[in-house]
Amino acid sequence: MIYLDNAATTIHKPQAVIDAVVSAMNSLGNSGRGASDASLDASRVIFEARQKLASLFHCRADHVVFTCNATEALNIAISGLFSKGDHIISTDLEHNSVLRPLYRLQESGVDVSFLPANRTGNIDYDDFDRLLQKNTRAVVCTHASNLTGTVTDVHKIGEFCQKHGLLFVLDASQAAGSFPVDMERDHIDVLCFTGHKAMLGPQGTGGLCVREGVSIRPFKVGGTGVQSHLKQQPEQMPTKLEAGTLNAHGIAGLSAAVDFLQEIGINNIRRKEEALTKRFYEGVKDIDGVTVYGDFSCERAPIVSLNIRDYPSSAVSDELMQHYGIATRSGAHCAPRLHEALGTDEQGAVRFSFGYFNTNEEIDAAICAVEEIAK
Ligand code: ALA
Repeated sequence: MIYLDNAATTIHKPQAVIDAVVSAMNSLGNSGRGASDASLDASRVIFEARQKLASLFHCRADHVVFTCNATEALNIAISGLFSKGDHIISTDLEHNSVLRPLYRLQESGVDVSFLPANRTGNIDYDDFDRLLQKNTRAVVCTHASNLTGTVTDVHKIGEFCQKHGLLFVLDASQAAGSFPVDMERDHIDVLCFTGHKAMLGPQGTGGLCVREGVSIRPFKVGGTGVQSHLKQQPEQMPTKLEAGTLNAHGIAGLSAAVDFLQEIGINNIRRKEEALTKRFYEGVKDIDGVTVYGDFSCERAPIVSLNIRDYPSSAVSDELMQHYGIATRSGAHCAPRLHEALGTDEQGAVRFSFGYFNTNEEIDAAICAVEEIAK
């Protein structure tokens, strides 16, 4: 199989990640729930992972909270920061992991405005000023669209938030691992990430990094292994936002994945993914009958979405898998507002997404397949 669905999850993981998970499964106890070597080892592995992520994203290690994915992290942030009467600015680029928690807040009296995306999947940054209200509390938005690969100007948005005293909640699901993410430089208050995409870690891992001083109401409460006689969830971070046994096995894998990313260098990963994306785009953009979505004149995530004539995107994706052994993702990609902006809400789109382990030969095979289907 030629795997070009890395935006959904990466399936080629560094061997060190697999080894770390296996070793953790063979040895770790429950962190914070005992004084055995096994339990203490689990705490050590988890603490080391927090330190590595803090150094990757530039935040405090004890403010790195583990969750099972970015969706859980975003739910914790979005449900725990806002109250009735607040106003939030978001964008049409968002995934349902941002949209649905925001729509739920709307039902409880929180006002949400969405920056429109244009036909090429870009937003106009002047719209942030236009949408600003007296009760605006935050910008909640994505770093990179999972549909078009559009990358938002995180620094600009962070400065806007700082200037107006707003919280900045960033969904880095499609960016972490492919782009350097710096909470300090870009004034990010809450960074939500997943471990299983470009970070090359296991599924079931992710988290949120919270700037010191930002207080989030817990989404879930329960066992923490500490302060067991308190009726409330303990206040200290990261315990405040982590109830129940952590996924130490997965976190061990994520920790090894961060080592791999640091060893290769995020900028080297980005350059390789960019080159693969450009090669594919150049190969398909002029094929008769092919429509490519998004703006390719600026920096972008390693994603190319397209349609071939008026063929249903699911039929094309199926053909690519059945006849060419090429894995892609079709349909709506949980990004309904952006599909509406692109005019693809009926047809969906065929998404090709590239990762560090893809090769030029795989890209060329995918270009040939698109050419043949279009013929
Ligand atoms: N959010 C993931 C995707 O875009 C699953 O495919």
